[in-house]
Amino acid sequence: MSTTRKILVTSALPYANGPIHLGHLVEYIQTDIWVRFQNMRGHDCFYVCADDTHGTPIMLRAEKEGITPEALIARVHGEHTRDFAGFHIAFDNYYSTHSEETRRFAVAIYGKLKANGLIEARAIEQYFDPVRDMFLPDRFIKGECPKCHAKDQYGDSCEVCGATHSPTDLINPYSAISGATPVKKESLHYFFKLGACADFLKRWTRAGHLQPEAANKLDEWLDAGLSDWDISRDAPYFGFEIPDAPGKYFYVWLDAPIGYMGSFKHLCDRVGLDFDAFWSRDSEMELYHFIGKDILYFHALFWPAMLEYSGYRTPSRVFAHGFLTVNGEKMSKSRGTFITAESYLQQGLNPEWLRYYYACKLNGTMEDIDLNLEDFVLRVNSDLVGKFVNIAARTAGFITKRFNGKLTERAYDRASEQFLRTDDGSDDEQGLIELIQDYGLAFAESVKADYEKRDYASAMRSIMVVADRTNKFIDECKPWDLAKDASRSDYLQWVCSVALQMFRLLAIYLKPVLPELTARAEAFLNLTALSWADAKRLLPPGHSIQAYRHLMIRIDGKQVDALLEVNRKTLQPTATPASHSEVRHAERQQHEVQAIGETIGIDDFARIDLRVAKIIRAEPVAGADKLLKLTLDIGSEQRTVFAGIKSAYAPEQLIGRHTVMVANLAPRKMKFGVSEGMVLAAGPGGTDVFLLQPDAGAQPGMRVT
Ligand code: MSP
Ligand code: ZN
Repeated sequence: MSTTRKILVTSALPYANGPIHLGHLVEYIQTDIWVRFQNMRGHDCFYVCADDTHGTPIMLRAEKEGITPEALIARVHGEHTRDFAGFHIAFDNYYSTHSEETRRFAVAIYGKLKANGLIEARAIEQYFDPVRDMFLPDRFIKGECPKCHAKDQYGDSCEVCGATHSPTDLINPYSAISGATPVKKESLHYFFKLGACADFLKRWTRAGHLQPEAANKLDEWLDAGLSDWDISRDAPYFGFEIPDAPGKYFYVWLDAPIGYMGSFKHLCDRVGLDFDAFWSRDSEMELYHFIGKDILYFHALFWPAMLEYSGYRTPSRVFAHGFLTVNGEKMSKSRGTFITAESYLQQGLNPEWLRYYYACKLNGTMEDIDLNLEDFVLRVNSDLVGKFVNIAARTAGFITKRFNGKLTERAYDRASEQFLRTDDGSDDEQGLIELIQDYGLAFAESVKADYEKRDYASAMRSIMVVADRTNKFIDECKPWDLAKDASRSDYLQWVCSVALQMFRLLAIYLKPVLPELTARAEAFLNLTALSWADAKRLLPPGHSIQAYRHLMIRIDGKQVDALLEVNRKTLQPTATPASHSEVRHAERQQHEVQAIGETIGIDDFARIDLRVAKIIRAEPVAGADKLLKLTLDIGSEQRTVFAGIKSAYAPEQLIGRHTVMVANLAPRKMKFGVSEGMVLAAGPGGTDVFLLQPDAGAQPGMRVT
């Protein structure tokens, strides 16, 4: 009845220019748990990944360090492999996109797309750094925002007013690499005609390959129309040169997903697997990509289209997860919550604590997940140490000391409070019926279903209910009292045996999350590696166990404080951008608090005249669905300001409230009238916009300093 599934699983390839941090680990831990679960069930599940090594940021980073890109990516590969191993992420292969395999697939796929008429060359005009002799990616051009005139904004979007633009719109642009004024220059680029794949993509994205939230997002993108995708970059570029186009390179995002194939091919060659069986168009194998929601565009549009039109199979499912916040906020270097994997391990924190905590939070949706550090300490101590490990800690000692390490051979009937005859040894359930049958087979089915749909949170909740139930059983039977009464020795042995049988079942269910802890539990129980099917059986009567040694210690809150301390860095100006794409950047902006930008002097600040303003009128603006027209009283005069806050506030909510405005902003002519200033607000946008409000007692016109 049960057939062995053949499954290939990937996690997104981390960039080779930065360390693995706890945000990344949400993904690798989530994937690793799933893969371990599948293998425990007896399926053939392979897990591959690689470093994403190409692109301008990596090239420039190497240059800054005075080494070759090859040397940089080799070093980072070592660091990443070490960190992943430290968190027990068990890849079958961890490779690099800078590999012959990936190059060959990239060239072949490009060739097929071209043969299918899906590649088009056309000249585009782009900024060029005359000092560095290179074209500048959008993120490496800075200048004044054409909308709000904020200085030093990136070429793709303004971090002050949120407007997106193209680098050629910037006022007084400069190269973020050399500082030189860039010049416009034409260059021939190659485009993948994504628009021509629209019908296929409309079908594919609605065919059950995506989570419902992801499919909705895709609908939005598809409705907005697909533009062609620029897949080439000019030299100098660290990547693969396009075969028929000397001096042109594949854009990093073209070869990055192809790196999944490259890594898998390398595995196939190493262990003798059949690559084509997994990737050919008629493959019956399963293919899953685990990714963060910020790279959905690449995995749900570009990637399936590339595969479809180059003759390969497409993914069975793409599983997107949300972003990690720490204590409810984006990871931050200044707060010390930008925690690297390396520092976590170096501080002596147990990687399984984090694996368990993430498992408690992951539910298979795209919701962000929060690492609340206080809750982390409490949860791990209470669940893993206080509930799970405690079952063995409270009972194993009696078995070792009083019964020579042997579990009971006798069956006990709790209803009649009598031992049953087991002379023939046939009753292998040892009278454990109620507790173990409830939490054995049928329970295993529901936990299995939770793991399969990546609802680990639900699995962990049910498992802890059983752990509670088992501890309650121990509390009721009071082995420590039984131990004082020699006539109750058989019963003591039976009680402790029941508890240890339960402990073993729980170890099976927790094994995908806690591979090390369960390996120690297996050794203590004298067992070979437990698989999922073992939940159908119990330890045989009279089974011997090893002496119990403590399985896991508690977290001390001080360890977490120390961890934050080592990760705390003084505020630095925004580092070299690592982001490779406009799409991704815009996506990420929605869930990132922006890093503090460049510093300004007190004199610069003093030039901004901030005033308390009372909103005396607020009205909708015909034809503008985001704007409200505000009439503001600033004591000496009244001002009209158009503010993009309509999704957050109804006009009547605002009348009579105080807010803060920039009073000396030059008046700006808008489509709907002249705006005489700007009100200050915070938040990501949409309904989450919060007008800044002075405390009660503030009077219109007061200067804000
Ligand atoms: N190199 C690309 C992926 C190419 S896949 C063909 C990339 N790299 S990354 O290093 O920025 O991110 C790797 C994975 O980690 C992505 O799936 C990303 O969503 C995930 N995460 C990075 N930061 C994260 C959080 N703070 N929280 C959760 N996941 C995060 O994208
Ligand atoms: Zn702006």
